[in-house]
Amino acid sequence: MAVDLLLGLQWGDEGKGKIVDVLTKNYDIIARFQGGPNAGHTLEFDGIKHVLHTIPSGIFHKNAMNIVGNGVVIDPVIFKKELDALDQFDIDIKSKLFISRKAHLILPTHRLLDAASETAKGKAKIGSTLKGIGPTYMDKTGRNGMRIGDLELDTWKEKYRTLANKHEAMIGFYNVDIQYDLEELETEFFDSLKTLKALTFIDSEEYLYQAQKAGKKILAEGAQGSLLDIDFGTYPFVTSSNTTAAGACTGLGVAPNQIGDVKGIFKAYTTRVGSGPFPTELFDTDGETMGRVGNEFGATTGRPRRCGWLDLVALKYAVQINGVTELMMMKGDVLSGFKKIKVCTAYNYKGETISHLPYNIEAENVTPIYTEMKGWAQDLTKMNKAEELPQALNTYIDFLEKELEVPIKIVSVGPDRTQTIHR
Ligand code: GDP
Ligand code: IMO
Ligand code: MG
Repeated sequence: MAVDLLLGLQWGDEGKGKIVDVLTKNYDIIARFQGGPNAGHTLEFDGIKHVLHTIPSGIFHKNAMNIVGNGVVIDPVIFKKELDALDQFDIDIKSKLFISRKAHLILPTHRLLDAASETAKGKAKIGSTLKGIGPTYMDKTGRNGMRIGDLELDTWKEKYRTLANKHEAMIGFYNVDIQYDLEELETEFFDSLKTLKALTFIDSEEYLYQAQKAGKKILAEGAQGSLLDIDFGTYPFVTSSNTTAAGACTGLGVAPNQIGDVKGIFKAYTTRVGSGPFPTELFDTDGETMGRVGNEFGATTGRPRRCGWLDLVALKYAVQINGVTELMMMKGDVLSGFKKIKVCTAYNYKGETISHLPYNIEAENVTPIYTEMKGWAQDLTKMNKAEELPQALNTYIDFLEKELEVPIKIVSVGPDRTQTIHR
């Protein structure tokens, strides 16, 4: 049985959490394959809003197992808080949530290093979520990291101390003013580790292999988005993992020939949180309206998200890199009321019209070329059938499908589980 993937195609926050939750009824296993608590995946049902950071978005369904894969980085402190928030719901965490022994641990000093690095960069900062993501993946690839499986060894505390001491020396190297009380941070960290250690650790690649053999349906849940990919994103303004389809293979141990559907999610417009180039970014009332109506504030940091029109040049690139087989368009409702909808279909790149994503997409190199379409005024949030969608929105969808050469299977018209139109 093939493993399906669900990935964000823009700069994150496309609505992955919502759609994983909607699709979980069709799957036996939901498996996160990369990223860490830099992610904030929002789910809404029965009038309650949930935000998950590390725990897969299938956790509220009785039918599905949830796996945190080897490609994920885990902060025990944030993980414990996520578990505490789930306490009031009737979920048997020990039997419903398994963690890969090969997943790496975020130490308190990784977070401090993230802060020191960002402070040292000054204006050139990445706009990191300050969750220690970069330093943790650096220790992983530098072969110094601590893994979940290490917690089962007697020597883990020594390993921890050696690494934390090294980090402290590194913080000194940055020569910036970072205030911290490591003793306090460590007390919280060790306390949270107790909670983590009570969970089920597994060799997740073996578990997933056996599950595939047994015919179980598996959905791999991505975090961030393709334009934040360490290789293919807007480097250096990216995260530190492969957010694209290939990341699901390395982040779960799934062979490339076992990948089935690749479900790509995008917003009907574009947002970005943190620094870095964003060709279609708006600085006018249209951008302000998108942010206000779309409630565009980071689910993890609360920072306002930058907003702009849909960038088809960037979206085509993401569809191509991921091999997307079906698309999901989110937040269509947010565009209701715009007289004109604009879509960027090409770039003016140093005086030349191009339709691929070039190496440099900074504002001084790229000016977006827009196609204008008619807007719609109807409120979409109460609609639940494709036939109800306004004609102008259908024209927009048809245009995108033709440009992207992939069908749009879901149109999302609100944050709630039920506000989801299948086509
Ligand atoms: P993720 O990181 O990809 O899971 O996305 P986030 O949860 O960070 O951000 C998406 C935000 O949009 C959340 O607040 C969702 O509740 C909300 N959302 C998702 N789909 C829709 C939609 O179709 N319409 C509206 N208005 N909000 C949506
Ligand atoms: P989800 O899964 C949006 C951004 C940060 C910053 C850059 C690097 O909710 O879509 P990092 O903390 O990873 O070192 O930050 O990446 N970023 C996200 N933006 N959604 C996310 O996750 C993000 N995770 C990281 O804002 O620009
Ligand atoms: Mg998010």
